[in-house]
Amino acid sequence: MSLIDLQGVRKSFGDVEALREVTFSVAFGEVFGLLGPNGAGKSTTVECIAGTLKPDAGRVSVLGVEPTGHRRFVRDRVGYQLQSAALPPALRVGEALDLFATFYSLPADVTELLDLVGLTGQRRRPFGALSGGQKQRLSVALALAGNPRVAIFDELTTGLDPQGRRDVRALIERVRDTGLTVLLVTHDLDEAARLCDRVAVIDRGRTRFVGTPDELIDSTRPASGAAHGLEDAYLRLLDPALSATRGEA
Ligand SMILES: Nc1ncnc2c1ncn2[C@@H]1O[C@H](COP(=O)(O)OP(=O)(O)OP(=O)(O)O)[C@@H](O)[C@H]1O
Ligand SMILES: [Mg+2]
Repeated sequence: MSLIDLQGVRKSFGDVEALREVTFSVAFGEVFGLLGPNGAGKSTTVECIAGTLKPDAGRVSVLGVEPTGHRRFVRDRVGYQLQSAALPPALRVGEALDLFATFYSLPADVTELLDLVGLTGQRRRPFGALSGGQKQRLSVALALAGNPRVAIFDELTTGLDPQGRRDVRALIERVRDTGLTVLLVTHDLDEAARLCDRVAVIDRGRTRFVGTPDELIDSTRPASGAAHGLEDAYLRLLDPALSATRGEA
């Protein structure tokens, strides 16, 4: 059984078809990347997995259950960091974690979480006084407050400086090493290449590719033998015209 399984998922908002055909599975223990342009449907997909949105058609299964019908079950097992998490600026780091821990049946140990994300020294700091990177590390800790089986991070490193991105990447590796499955939504192809065992590329609501980063690179490799990394592969997948105009001369 896969941890997460989506088959032919569709979801519209009024006349906006956010998801037309999304199909992929996430296995236990892998770091799975969800890639795709702005508006492709990544966050909508994540909300269908978390059970906060109900698909119009298709099937979503998380640990064998349909998420919207098992909200409590899924909340206890899927740690979800929202794309734009906002907390009251005066709320202290430790208070936020204590609060979030009360939402779950079997909460994680707050002291251990602070240690894991490197915020032990910031326990009494108000949220509003944290740097961007510290806020992101706190949002990782908040996603893990319920001792989940899978952690979903939606654009965790967007907006961070290179050092901050590197710190948060190292943190994602630590999270993976604790045995969690990680679903990572990112626009950073370098990050996906480094961290992800497999990726799905979503484009205008459809899954265009599912496989390892190397498979994506191989399947789009230019005949010219020009240097070709994951970002090149991703761009060629989404814009076949590039094959005709770049590097094929
Ligand atoms: N609650 C909503 N109401 C109306 N339209 C929505 C809603 N949520 C998403 N959409 C639309 O659905 C489409 C997919 O949005 P979604 O947020 O899933 O994209 P995304 O891939 O996460 O993009 P980004 O990379 O910019 O975060 C977009 O056209 C968006 O405007
Ligand atoms: Mg999004």
